[in-house]
Amino acid sequence: MVSHLQMVARYFKYYLGSKTLNSIQSPSIYRLIAATLEDKREYYAFRELEGLRRHLLKRNETIEVVDLGAGSKVSKSNHRKISEIAKSALSPSHKAQFLFKLCKHLQPDNILEFGTSLGLSALYMHKGCSSAKLTTIEGSPAIAKVAKEYFDAEKASINLIVNPFDVALELPELINSKYDIIYIDGNHTELATKYYVDMLYDNLNEEGVIILDDIYWSSGMINAWYELSTDDRFGFSIDLFDYGLLIKNQSHNQHESFQIIKRRKKPFIL
Ligand SMILES: C[S@@+](CC[C@H](N)C(=O)[O-])C[C@H]1O[C@@H](n2cnc3c(N)ncnc32)[C@H](O)[C@@H]1O
Repeated sequence: MVSHLQMVARYFKYYLGSKTLNSIQSPSIYRLIAATLEDKREYYAFRELEGLRRHLLKRNETIEVVDLGAGSKVSKSNHRKISEIAKSALSPSHKAQFLFKLCKHLQPDNILEFGTSLGLSALYMHKGCSSAKLTTIEGSPAIAKVAKEYFDAEKASINLIVNPFDVALELPELINSKYDIIYIDGNHTELATKYYVDMLYDNLNEEGVIILDDIYWSSGMINAWYELSTDDRFGFSIDLFDYGLLIKNQSHNQHESFQIIKRRKKPFIL
């Protein structure tokens, strides 16, 4: 995990190298950024789901957590309060809302998430495109059980698979499916991230997107992102600092990499 100072340095480098919406030449990437990063609307679902986050943040029950990934940033204990998990593991609202807008814009048929946790990002994606089939994978049974409570309470038909990612990757229902969006938000190590992308590449539809979380979380993740963002199996890569997007788009015969920031954060450049 990089230190706070290293993270500031990374952000500064990203900031200097990033461009805003107005300088994007590709029409499909322009539309994607306009509909996500630059969409300032407060959707009704946001209020509802942030209410759900507040509910989770107040739950003091302790549950057993199986640490299958790169480890918790905050606690190594096997027993944790739901409120603590909600505080440290869930995507913050601006990131979860990006996922909602991306799903709303792309209108996917099939979404796959690695790393359900308490289910908030899955619910954001579901609300962004409720007609999509959404499958989400969580390796920690007690955490998955809490997520399921919220999926049921929201009457959200979300397919929750409780298994380690490696095991889930061998399930016929996964191997034999094609996805429009694959969101990888768990086990943030260099090797695991590259492995999941390689394993899932053929399951991605022609215009499909892989979203990688925490691309600046550690030097390993930075390496993984550097390699994947220049991988010409993908038509486009987009570095948003919060997320890295890999867009298959094989009809685009040349790989293009973007580093994009909100216009209001860099108002003085095009
Ligand atoms: C950062 S949290 C996911 C947060 C969630 N996507 C959200 O924003 O609401 C990552 C989750 O992935 C799970 N996880 C990590 N590594 C895993 C693995 N190898 N197999 C299965 N689950 C794993 C953890 O138990 C944890 O709940």
